[in-house]
Amino acid sequence: MSSEESPKNSGRAAAPVQPEKTSREPSSTRSGSAHPERSSRGASGGSGVEGPLEGSVEVGADAAPALIALEEIRRTYHVGGEEVRALDGVSVAVGRGEWVAIVGQSGSGKSTLMNIVGCLDTPTSGRYRLNGTDVRGLSDDELADLRNKEIGFVFQTFQLLPRSTALANVELPLVYRGVPRRQRRELAEEALVRVGLEQRMHHRPNELSGGQRQRVAVARALVGRPALLLADEPTGNLDTATGEEIIGLFTELHEAGNTIVLVTHEPKLAARCPRAVRLSDGKVVADGPGVEVASLQLPRAVGT
Ligand SMILES: Nc1ncnc2c1ncn2[C@@H]1O[C@H](COP(=O)(O)OP(=O)(O)OP(=O)(O)O)[C@@H](O)[C@H]1O
Ligand SMILES: [Mg+2]
Repeated sequence: MSSEESPKNSGRAAAPVQPEKTSREPSSTRSGSAHPERSSRGASGGSGVEGPLEGSVEVGADAAPALIALEEIRRTYHVGGEEVRALDGVSVAVGRGEWVAIVGQSGSGKSTLMNIVGCLDTPTSGRYRLNGTDVRGLSDDELADLRNKEIGFVFQTFQLLPRSTALANVELPLVYRGVPRRQRRELAEEALVRVGLEQRMHHRPNELSGGQRQRVAVARALVGRPALLLADEPTGNLDTATGEEIIGLFTELHEAGNTIVLVTHEPKLAARCPRAVRLSDGKVVADGPGVEVASLQLPRAVGT
């Protein structure tokens, strides 16, 4: 990647996705202000927007309510009379501004966990609160709304519209939100600058390298300024050097204050994350500094 494409030239590169970095604020000033639109959701969100929650999972020295609070999450599938416990009592809390890798062998429950965290699926039992909102009891529409406002997704296979330019791909989430055209364009341009693609805005995916495509996907995830970036194997389809480029981008986004949770098979990527959580048979078996949890790497599962 050429140096002109580097996001470092842009003042916006340092802009956090969240409107504010809250880790040092007293919790009483934090509640709700980052997401004023949420106040209208009080009826379903309950008390979540006002200060620490009753019985809330707390993280770190300043005991802030977690952005992600998973308590005793179980997800069970029934296949041909057999019960599969994809998640078997997972309790994890992730605070704002954290960068966490989810690791574990194939079938250990990583994608199931990401689907629940991303509000694409709901647990069989247990409690999940995202940004203070208990997702239990939300309707499908309310879940979709929460997902749209709070979460940006990055996928292994990029999932870009092939006939649309980078700019149009990045604008898409804003189309769903009903953002007016001009503002959409400005925000999409900003997001593409942030990922270092100001020179490639009018290219279609087949006119971009793999790493550039993934940058477009990251820009699309960022454009709505979500509270949380979720990525399932974001470097899985990239060669080592390009994967490294994307890891560099995540590092910058983390340094700018974004909260990132990603699934990875790559010990090298997990080792770069300040924190990693290892799953095995649907249970958390390690949770600590990425470099330590990554070095616990078990033999790689066949066929992954
Ligand atoms: N829709 C489903 N129906 C039945 N069983 C499922 C379903 N989805 C996942 N499972 C099972 O749940 C377990 C966890 O699957 P999951 O996809 O979360 O694993 P993973 O850690 O993401 O694996 P990989 O690294 O291969 O992507 C596996 O045993 C899987 O077979
Ligand atoms: Mg998976």
